[in-house]
Amino acid sequence: MRRLRRTKALRDLVRETELSPRHLVQPLFVVSGEGVREPVESMPGIERFSINELVAEASELQASGVEAVVLFGIPAAKDETGSGAYDEEGVVQLAVRALKEAHPELTVITDVCLCEYTSHGHCGFVRDGEVDNDITVELLAKTAISHADAGADAVAPSDMMDGRIAAIRHQLDEEGHPNTPVIAYSAKYASAFYGPFREAAESTPEFGDRRGYQMDPANAREALREARLDVEEGADMVMVKPALPYLDVIRAVREDLDVPIAAYQVSGEYSMLKAAAHNGWLDERAAALEALTSIRRAGADVILTYYAKEAATWLR
Ligand code: PBG
Repeated sequence: MRRLRRTKALRDLVRETELSPRHLVQPLFVVSGEGVREPVESMPGIERFSINELVAEASELQASGVEAVVLFGIPAAKDETGSGAYDEEGVVQLAVRALKEAHPELTVITDVCLCEYTSHGHCGFVRDGEVDNDITVELLAKTAISHADAGADAVAPSDMMDGRIAAIRHQLDEEGHPNTPVIAYSAKYASAFYGPFREAAESTPEFGDRRGYQMDPANAREALREARLDVEEGADMVMVKPALPYLDVIRAVREDLDVPIAAYQVSGEYSMLKAAAHNGWLDERAAALEALTSIRRAGADVILTYYAKEAATWLR
């Protein structure tokens, strides 16, 4: 077996999995205000940008070879119904317009969820202490339409309500956006690895947890049911999240379905690598590229990763 491993050129020739910047999507946090760049403490290298700074960051991303971003909004004010999520003048809607105007070739995906916009931090409308599925689905569809109206290239619902893909697809078609793809966060687990994101997005639930709507980390077959349902409901791409602890799920979904698969290397996966590298315990570049390659090898076509910009630079 060692004959084809002897030289770099031979290894390059027979490498099975390719990792390139075109596979990577950079998540970006948008805040209101002007000239704001706030570092996220638990995610070294990640900042929350006001719109003008976001547009500047997008230039750097494009220069590094990253061609797609996914936006998360942190509104100035939150309320019970998460109304900032579907406000025409909301922080994400304004950011999409600004980005598409300055960088028309950049693919702008929006995260569709209520958790960053609700005062209680849950992903939907709360009634009697529980997230109400069907009311939430209506609010999510409204949110998705407002993103498409602003010019989003794709919408990515991450709420894990039942039936939301069908509702969003239907509304998009009805309201003049038949060509806007839906990227479904299909197998989204109730994961401890979202911790740093919740600091960044100020979206930690005030009471309870998300186990009533996000998936149990112990289940894999259920992920296939989720992904198939989303495809039947009209999803153009399905996602598994987190990525590295769920490589088996990525592989299973890949083998079961023909749609493109995305995987989300989440905040905790990023922060672990950053922390170990900071302590000198890991070679960051090698470890990060190995993790990303493994996610591709498992079957992901697209990877959402906070490493997108850095990895793109390393890969050039
Ligand atoms: C919900 C959402 C979350 C993430 C992406 N979309 C957080 C959650 O469910 O608590 C997590 C991403 C990450 O950890 O990087 N809108």
